[in-house]
Amino acid sequence: MAHLGLIGIGVMGAAFAQNLAEEGHSVSMLDRTIAKMQAVANEGKDLKGDLIVCADAQALIDSLPKPRSILVLVPAGGPLDSVIDMLIPMLDKGDLIADLGNSNYKNTQARVAKLEAVGLHFLGMGISGGAEGARHGPSIMAGGSKDSWARVKGPLQDAAAAFEGDPCCDWFGPGGSGHFIKMIHNGIEYGDMQQIAETYGIMRDGLGMKAGEIADVFKGWMKGPLNSYLIEIAGEVAAAVDPKTGGPVLDIILDKAGQKGTGRWSVIEALHLGTPASLMMAAVEARNISAAKDSRLEMEAAFGPSPEVMIGALGTRKAAIDALENAMIAAKVCAYVQGFEVLKRASDEFEWDLDLAAIARVWRAGCIIRSVFLDEISDVFDGGGSSNLALAPIFQQRLKDTMPDLQKVIVAGISHGQQVPALYGALGYHNMRRTGQSTANMIQGLRDYFGAHTFERVDDLGVAVNGPWHD
Ligand code: 6PG
Repeated sequence: MAHLGLIGIGVMGAAFAQNLAEEGHSVSMLDRTIAKMQAVANEGKDLKGDLIVCADAQALIDSLPKPRSILVLVPAGGPLDSVIDMLIPMLDKGDLIADLGNSNYKNTQARVAKLEAVGLHFLGMGISGGAEGARHGPSIMAGGSKDSWARVKGPLQDAAAAFEGDPCCDWFGPGGSGHFIKMIHNGIEYGDMQQIAETYGIMRDGLGMKAGEIADVFKGWMKGPLNSYLIEIAGEVAAAVDPKTGGPVLDIILDKAGQKGTGRWSVIEALHLGTPASLMMAAVEARNISAAKDSRLEMEAAFGPSPEVMIGALGTRKAAIDALENAMIAAKVCAYVQGFEVLKRASDEFEWDLDLAAIARVWRAGCIIRSVFLDEISDVFDGGGSSNLALAPIFQQRLKDTMPDLQKVIVAGISHGQQVPALYGALGYHNMRRTGQSTANMIQGLRDYFGAHTFERVDDLGVAVNGPWHD
């Protein structure tokens, strides 16, 4: 059994310490508040492993067997750097620091280099599943110093979620690769949530459905290809009743979405890599617009509200709901094509040699985007499928079956003022992607006309020429 250090005993840290102890591993804990650690240790006193309260960093370091492995679960950025800078002079060569926060992969990259330069190891690990996951089995995406992975792999895989016996915890590559994968996980999470919000909007504003009826729809979708944690909890959120008003909880939640940055980073990185991420982009923009509530109210007063009732526009209510389900299936395939293509491009660009099948596998349980769908994706990659999942027979067929409904929902939705940016992000992307003859010949003509940027002739490929514009 392992003995690890864990710095940062907040909600996640406390849960993860107890999870490790439950698996029989001992954890030396360090936090600013001794009472908090004491409470965690007391609560976990019957667990198999020891939960040791350390009064300071020296006590933590002295308590650990060498080479030491110290997990850090403090807020990303400044707080994490303070912990690392405090530890560096106290550690011995070969010791390991592992960051389990939502750090930006570029910072992780720099930390790996900084620590390796002084003979220490650093792992950047994305951990998904919230506090519940941290306690009972999160999904863990590690990257960084490979030599040190073997040392923490056992206890982390014990603590991680498992899918049919396979732990959802792996090391994927050097540098910031683990945190890059977690960032894209969150970008996909944003897209999935935005699609849920858009279909909820159509049901609420377009079809005039009550929250409880909408909850039943989400529950029904759990029986089909959309079966996933987020659809499951969408059903629970929609069904919940506010004890104060006796009405739906959804009706008392302010419509301003928060965000901590990982969705935005995903979009920025996708843009840098030149890989489409229209659903993540739509999701981030929708959150940005949602946050400006005052300005939306001002605009509504000036222009009138946007969503209109659209009962009948998609046929009966049952037909409309079936079309919405298919629309989400089609959009979801596009979202995952985009996500995995960003990962593939990053892998090539940064020479990470990422195993896409292994990534899909660790997302099958424990994390927020876990779904039946990810099991199908991992099968496609295991069978040698490319990052363009749309061409894998199972998803190709699914897209052919559901795209007509995605188009129908968007046409009806937009013509009734519904907000469907993520759904449209999928349709626009798919349609452009299946167009052999694009309109970029016009772009190239314009670029060459005003800037002599050259273009290739279709009858003389590989040769840069100018057009006859200024003869
Ligand atoms: C997870 C979540 C987790 C966190 C998100 C929320 O995988 O467990 O993604 O990391 O809840 O970062 O992000 P926003 O606050 O940006 O929605």
